[in-house]
Amino acid sequence: MPRIKIETCTGAAISPLLSELARLRVEVFRAFPYLYDGNPAYEEDYLRIYAETPGAAVIVARDEKRIVGASTCLPLSSQPGVLQKPFLAARIDISKIFYFGESVLEAAYRGRGIGVAFFRAREEQAGGFETTAFCAVQRPDDHPLRPKNYVDLHEFWRHRGYHARPELLCTMAWQDVGEAESTEKTLQFWTKTL
Ligand SMILES: CC(C)(COP(=O)(O)OP(=O)(O)OC[C@H]1O[C@@H](n2cnc3c(N)ncnc32)[C@H](O)[C@@H]1OP(=O)(O)O)[C@@H](O)C(=O)NCCC(=O)NCCS
Repeated sequence: MPRIKIETCTGAAISPLLSELARLRVEVFRAFPYLYDGNPAYEEDYLRIYAETPGAAVIVARDEKRIVGASTCLPLSSQPGVLQKPFLAARIDISKIFYFGESVLEAAYRGRGIGVAFFRAREEQAGGFETTAFCAVQRPDDHPLRPKNYVDLHEFWRHRGYHARPELLCTMAWQDVGEAESTEKTLQFWTKTL
């Protein structure tokens, strides 16, 4: 496989990436545990926050010119209330928290260090913050769509220095693949003190 180039994009450089990021999100998040039945046009609109927020960054992985993976980050204070709420309830100062959005990588490119590079590049953007944080969906162990050989990312995240925070939970609603309407899911935060 050719060498994959990792690049950090900020400000105006993010806008031209949004349609490719939307494609990747919809493709990667269709799989367990997200099972997200997404729409690229909606996704592109949602991702605009990264182009418009000071301090935000998108890390892209390219194979030649083609984007094969991406990862996002921005100050938690610029995120919707649903993500801030658990921190506010726990009396944690959200101005000190740098939030990691999605990491999405085409399956053919996994297991060769790109996910590790995404964490490193996002932490480099977190200067001035005390903590980095992200959240991940929780699915029951007996979920009917859990693949038999599924391995969750908990060890991968622990190896990057992150701790599960069972007291920091939020709720989001989306339509799962194969379902007729959107349902609420619980997501748990993971944090790292820088
Ligand atoms: C999360 C995701 C981006 C991880 O990407 P990845 O590139 O496969 O991860 P990496 O290869 O960097 O790391 C996986 C492991 O392989 C190791 N590894 C394998 N090959 C490697 C190489 N050539 N160089 C360095 N590390 C390597 C890493 O060290 C790591 O092991 P560790 O945790 O024991 O240190 C990818 O699995 C993905 O897109 N998943 C679906 C979407 C998702 O769940 N996203 C997260 C929530 S938004």
